Amino acid sequence: MNKSACVIGWPIKHSRSPMIHGYWLAKHGIDGSYEKRAVHPDDLQNFVKNLANEGFVGCNVTVPHKEHAFQLADDKDASAVAVFAANTLWLDGDLLCAANTDTEGFMAHLTVSAPDWKKRDVPVTILGAGGAARAIVYGFVEAGVGEIRVVNRTRAKAEKLAADFGGLKPDTRIIAGDWDKRQTLSQDAGVVVNTTTIGMNGEGDLGLDPASFNVPAVVADIVYVPLETALLRDAKAAGHETVDGLGMLLHQAVAGFEKWFGVRPEVTQELRDLVVADLEQS
Ligand code: ATR
Repeated sequence: MNKSACVIGWPIKHSRSPMIHGYWLAKHGIDGSYEKRAVHPDDLQNFVKNLANEGFVGCNVTVPHKEHAFQLADDKDASAVAVFAANTLWLDGDLLCAANTDTEGFMAHLTVSAPDWKKRDVPVTILGAGGAARAIVYGFVEAGVGEIRVVNRTRAKAEKLAADFGGLKPDTRIIAGDWDKRQTLSQDAGVVVNTTTIGMNGEGDLGLDPASFNVPAVVADIVYVPLETALLRDAKAAGHETVDGLGMLLHQAVAGFEKWFGVRPEVTQELRDLVVADLEQS
């Protein structure tokens, strides 16, 4: 039976998800399709509640629908509940199920790119406290990291995130930090992750100097345009391991594809090259 899935957003023009899922459909010879659907916020409820009638077995959800899609779902996985947002929906009979695969996507890519990250028995520092930061902090909490520092321009958001996740695991301490302390709070960390939008399209300056870090770190950025952000370039030049943002995008797609089409696909170099070529063209 031909199965169809889609990605919904408003706007949706720039989504790379059709390229990723299209690659896997072809690779596995699956009789299925994956398309973009522009869904206006006013139409979201109607769309997701009628997924099957629309001809879909499920969908990815992107800006600005992630929180509303989470609320509309009947059944929510632990990561979606932790993040209060869903990026993947599928049907289980009549039940609309929701997951947030950004956590899995980030942690899988980190582990592939810097397999020894966990051996560094030092804190993890997260810059930013938006939706992406929530997904990533949850991943580090689940991984059993002892100390996580959340540093954000708007301190109240860092404090909220620290309070929300602080009680999840007795051995994990989550600390909210001031934005102007970001250098101090990063320089003895084993993993430093930029989850802010600074650096996107080469704009803005994070104001972080990896050359002055006291320990070798894994430095990750979730920005993937450009693929090598100023943060990653400076970190690499200073001898730190670096993890780019594209891998998270590719790895977060794995779980959705498996739910909809029944095969767990792989993030290959060939797929990466395909998406990189597309990013370079636009
Ligand atoms: P996402 O859901 O992708 O994480 P978001 O919720 O809009 O996106 O979060 C963006 C993050 O980038 C926030 O942590 C934001 O800081 P504030 O909470 O203070 O808004 C951060 N950010 C964006 N521009 C910034 C800037 N110029 N300086 C510092 N932080 C910035």
